[in-house]
Amino acid sequence: MRNISADLTHRLSIEYPVIQAPMFGVSTPEMTATASNTGALGSLALADLTYNQCAELIRKTRQLTSRPFAANIFLHTLPAITAELKDRYQRTKAFLEQLAKENGINVSLPEFDTIQLTDYKDQLDAIVEYGVKILSFTFGNLDPESIRFLKSKQVVLIGTCTSVTEALQLEASGIDIICVQGIEAGGHRGSFTERNIPEIGGLSLLATVRDAVKTPLIYAGGLYNGATMHAAKALGAAGFQLGSIFLCAQESALEEFEKQRLLKATENEIMLISSYTGRYARGIANHYVQLAENSGMTLPYPYQNKLTRALRDVAKQQKNAEFINLWAGQSLHTYSRDSTASIIGSLISQLPH
Ligand SMILES: Cc1cc2nc3c(=O)[nH]c(=O)nc-3n(C[C@H](O)[C@H](O)[C@H](O)COP(=O)(O)O)c2cc1C
Repeated sequence: MRNISADLTHRLSIEYPVIQAPMFGVSTPEMTATASNTGALGSLALADLTYNQCAELIRKTRQLTSRPFAANIFLHTLPAITAELKDRYQRTKAFLEQLAKENGINVSLPEFDTIQLTDYKDQLDAIVEYGVKILSFTFGNLDPESIRFLKSKQVVLIGTCTSVTEALQLEASGIDIICVQGIEAGGHRGSFTERNIPEIGGLSLLATVRDAVKTPLIYAGGLYNGATMHAAKALGAAGFQLGSIFLCAQESALEEFEKQRLLKATENEIMLISSYTGRYARGIANHYVQLAENSGMTLPYPYQNKLTRALRDVAKQQKNAEFINLWAGQSLHTYSRDSTASIIGSLISQLPH
């Protein structure tokens, strides 16, 4: 039988089919480079950062590893700027400022006209100019022109799907590898739509995507040990992408109070939340979520994200875990405080054959 994991590692020029998931706000150049230096694939989360910010993070990572790593970006569609959107923005801003004030956080949130948005094509320029050869992306698909451009530069493309329909779209447009993201996964849903997202469990999703497409698959969502990787392999995954397992790693960007909060998380606190960014993400419910989630005052991405950013920054300075987003997946376990290298070393020793 063909060894699908060997095909994948060959394609990505890595030794082991383990992928440290991109985690914006948590993963760092140090984490990415350390992961790649073990022979696994590190992922550098660039979300919707500007060209210069992307270039700086890629340069930093390059200084720490000569091995391949993946850059990861967000492909959201921008909502049309209308008088109605501006009006909703003003009302949401006032709501959030009041909510913050009532909870001891004094902050004025940005005016609509000061919000800077990134065009992902600028990010692609930084990725290509700085020689990154693997690009993973989430929240949709690349446009055909960008796919042609990246392929002409020999960049391997990894798209994220949360449904069979999305997987078929990625395959039809020539994406090289598909990352199948089960509903268990921590962080943002990679769905192509913002509302009415597919909520398919990893077992169903991986099996049905495997039946529907021929493209090599990576699985993400709920993996944390040998048994979970074996299950994913049995359902057709060639590679294993893990995020939450690294949340408390030494190279994580999270502060100690955030790690302590994660270590205390319980199963019924982990839920899908849209009120921090405007897109659903899995994380810990806290006081902010209780107040904001069902308020009807959530703007589309990226406006909600930009609006709540200042609030979260102040809450973080105050070490207030009740008003910051802490993303985590459904497989709760005692997050290791070890180095990324040691966590990956343990996963490698448990890989399915
Ligand atoms: C804190 C955090 C941040 C994340 N940020 C990103 C991101 O920037 N880009 C992305 O494609 N996926 C992101 N994800 C999703 C991961 O790529 C992956 O799908 C998920 O972590 C897998 O599930 P697990 O957390 O159960 O291992 C994030 C996940 C977490 C936990």
